[in-house]
Amino acid sequence: MASGSGSNFENVVHEIHAGRLDADAVLLVCDKPGAGVLARAEKLKVPFALVDRKQFPSKEAFEADIVKRLDASGCDFIVLAGYMRILTDAFVLRYWGRIINIHPSMLPAFPGAHGIRDAFEAKAAATGVTVHFVDTGVDTGAVILQKAVPLVQGDTLESLEARVHAAEYLLYPEALRKIISGHVSSPARPSAEG
Ligand code: GRF
Repeated sequence: MASGSGSNFENVVHEIHAGRLDADAVLLVCDKPGAGVLARAEKLKVPFALVDRKQFPSKEAFEADIVKRLDASGCDFIVLAGYMRILTDAFVLRYWGRIINIHPSMLPAFPGAHGIRDAFEAKAAATGVTVHFVDTGVDTGAVILQKAVPLVQGDTLESLEARVHAAEYLLYPEALRKIISGHVSSPARPSAEG
C-alpha cells in the first residue's frame, strides 16, 4: 500500500523480479489519485487499485473497500511503503502480524510524517531507517530491522534524504526476506482486554 512516488514499491518489486525475494506482488493499493506509484505499478505490470477516500462516506467504508480487494488478492502480507494514512484499529487487528511498514528514522526517535526533516532540523548525530510490524499506535510496532544513517558535515536535507532512501532500498528487502524465510515471528496479538 502506498500513497507517494513509490520508489520503495519499485525497489521491492525489482527484488522479486530479480529472484532475490521469494514473493509475488499481487496487488498495489494506492489512496492518492495521480501518485507516482500508480505509473510504476503499470510499468512493472503489478495489478493495482486506486481507492480514493473522497469516494467514500466514512473511513470505515473506505477501508472496507480496501479489505475486500486485499482479501480477493489472496495476499499473505501487507507491505506499507509510504502509505500516508493511519489505519483503523479494526484493520490492524484483522491483519495482525501481517502488516509491515518502513519508517525513515531510528524509531522510537522521530516518528510521524516527517521523520527525515525532523532529524535534520534537530541536528541529530544520526538518524536511520526502521522496518517494523504495524500495531495500533503510530510508528510503534515491534521492530524487525534498523539501520543507522549518520548525519555528516555539510549535509543538506536533500543529501540526507538521499542517504536515508538508499538505506531503505537495502533494508526493506532484507527485512522482507527475514519474514518470508520464517526468521522473524509476528508479535503477540493484543488481548481482548487491551
Ligand atoms: C519512505 O521514506 C518511507 O520510509 C516512508 O515514506 C517514504 C516513501 O517513499 N514511509 P517512496 O514513495 O517509496 O519513494
